[in-house]
Amino acid sequence: MSQWYPIALSSDQTTNLQSIRLLNQDLFLWRSHDRVIVGIDRCPHRGAKLSLGWISEDCLVCPYHGLTYDKTRQCTKIPAHPDLIPSQKLQIHQLLIQERYGLIWTTLESSSQDLPIFPQFHDEQYRNILCGPYYYKASAYRAMENFLDVSHFPYIHEGLLGTRSHPVLKPYTVKINSKGIETSAIEILQPDPDGLGKESYVTYYYQVHRPYIASFTKITAAGEFFMFLALTPLSDVECIGWMGLAMNYGHDIPETEIKAFQDKLVEQDIKIVESQSPLVPSLNWSDEYPLPSDKLVVAYRQWLRSNSDSKELF
Ligand code: FES
Ligand SMILES: [Fe+2]
Repeated sequence: MSQWYPIALSSDQTTNLQSIRLLNQDLFLWRSHDRVIVGIDRCPHRGAKLSLGWISEDCLVCPYHGLTYDKTRQCTKIPAHPDLIPSQKLQIHQLLIQERYGLIWTTLESSSQDLPIFPQFHDEQYRNILCGPYYYKASAYRAMENFLDVSHFPYIHEGLLGTRSHPVLKPYTVKINSKGIETSAIEILQPDPDGLGKESYVTYYYQVHRPYIASFTKITAAGEFFMFLALTPLSDVECIGWMGLAMNYGHDIPETEIKAFQDKLVEQDIKIVESQSPLVPSLNWSDEYPLPSDKLVVAYRQWLRSNSDSKELF
């Protein structure tokens, strides 16, 4: 089943044409004053990139010969032949978009599996913060597996999300169901899990919703901290990560502080994820040796294998 992928922040006010990439496909993004238009970055005349063009009178102008397209995608003007009525074949290929969770999402197909519902983004008790985009020179699988892996906290995030004196991960269970994958409680000791300045055990519950969308809920003494990760595969070895945070405590912590903390964690992750080989992991573990602590990642690869009818999976 085809999927939705985040491609931009809703709050981004960039008015220029933008060039973006999704699953090896070049796209353009055009923010007109009343809507966002995303399409295949190719002029139907002779194949030039439309993102190199410009906007004039609320129309997109191709840079090569000046063919002009309106917001309904139809060519309305051929400068070399002012009297010629443009053929219906001169249409740009627009894609569906939707805005959700502060992001603009698109899909390469005409119908796609709905996005997961995150109630924490519609509940006044939670504050919502978007982090990213984070660029990984790595497979989206690697980035996702890193998100699903608690046992690296005491090493990669020593002093922030874990401590090397307490690396032990107790057994947890993983269930694959029609909605995806979910875990039982996963406990870990954190130096200061919620800004109260006190070392304590916290509990994580993970869910995988789509091949490139997962979330966790972390329960601490202060409350609930929810985070989703949505990945946009640019190619099989490059991706962009977008993270949505929702927390029902810490309303007075400045957003810049929370974002800076998240940026730091992701920077630590990216360094390791980009170092992993092979670049695209084998779904049958032919090159790696999973441990009991990798149970969720094992389930993820198993689930991807069973979803391999999706052409979008690399
Ligand atoms: S290729 Fe776009 S106008 Fe010719
Ligand atoms: Fe991490």
